[in-house]
Amino acid sequence: MRVYILGSDGQLGHELCGVLGCFAEVIRATEAGYDMTDATALRDALRSAAPDVIVNAAAYTDVDGAEREPERARKVNADAVGVLGELAVSMRCPLVHYSTDFVFDGTQSRPYTEDDTPNPLSVYGRTKLEGERALLDRGAPALILRTAWVYGTRARSFVSSVLRLAREREELRIVQDQIGNPTFCRDLAEATGLVLYEARHHPHEALAPLAGLYHVAGGGSCSRYELACAAVALDPDKRSHKVQRIVPIPTSAYPLPATRPATAALDCSKAHRVLGIRLPPWRESLARALAG
Ligand SMILES: NC(=O)c1ccc[n+]([C@@H]2O[C@H](COP(=O)([O-])OP(=O)(O)OC[C@H]3O[C@@H](n4cnc5c(N)ncnc54)[C@H](OP(=O)(O)O)[C@@H]3O)[C@@H](O)[C@H]2O)c1
Repeated sequence: MRVYILGSDGQLGHELCGVLGCFAEVIRATEAGYDMTDATALRDALRSAAPDVIVNAAAYTDVDGAEREPERARKVNADAVGVLGELAVSMRCPLVHYSTDFVFDGTQSRPYTEDDTPNPLSVYGRTKLEGERALLDRGAPALILRTAWVYGTRARSFVSSVLRLAREREELRIVQDQIGNPTFCRDLAEATGLVLYEARHHPHEALAPLAGLYHVAGGGSCSRYELACAAVALDPDKRSHKVQRIVPIPTSAYPLPATRPATAALDCSKAHRVLGIRLPPWRESLARALAG
């Protein structure tokens, strides 16, 4: 099976290359060095690679940056995804694409299912939702995996930033009124790998009937404050910490350009029921991630 990965230098893309490389021939878009917003280059690259599956881990993920450059975010998160959808249809090539909990407004008291109505609060959330719709409207054979609070230890993430600040400061002030599902990027890559491994002999026949939206995120939810406390407590390199106190603060005390959903936990039961994938509880994954 030949798998074409976009965004292979990102947090998730890097892990996907390792996991999928165990059973598939992996082609990295980054090696061709084109910008995926160049539709001609994207079409040429995919047609000449002729993969069995496309995995799109590329995105404009700078949530606050997207407020400053909405057109750039739209080109990557929506327009280019539409081109991928068109190619997935014309090449009969299944696509795995990732979306976000930021498509929701976070005002619901129970975890969001795939049937709940999105209402993004930010440019990032709106453009990611447009990307989802570009695939659904084209009837692309696409599995759209909505995930949340993705972290790793290799690149910049909420968890790596907390640990860096724990080494630099005595006090950390962390938002306590945003709730979500911390997701270790390796867990998400492994879950994707499981789905593709099962489909490896007949990818289109196996995956096209599964096309649609799925919530796939770390098990259980917590606040940013709880995640920060857990990261500091579980860090094996605690001796280098300067931090003495972690203070919970409201979102209003830490204003940012983009509005985040307050309580956007995802109900991931459909992915378990239909795809047979379920990510481990977030605290277990965090301990594994920090252990290296
Ligand atoms: N991070 C999160 O907390 C989070 C939460 C929910 C959902 N997600 C979704 O999960 C997926 C993976 O996220 P991630 O955290 O792994 O993202 P990431 O680390 O920011 O990686 C994104 C990758 O996309 C590439 N990219 C961006 N614009 C591109 C372009 N025009 N052409 C080619 N490549 C381009 C980036 O390359 P450069 O670095 O060279 O620009 C980068 O390698 C995304 O769909 C994201 O929306 C992420």
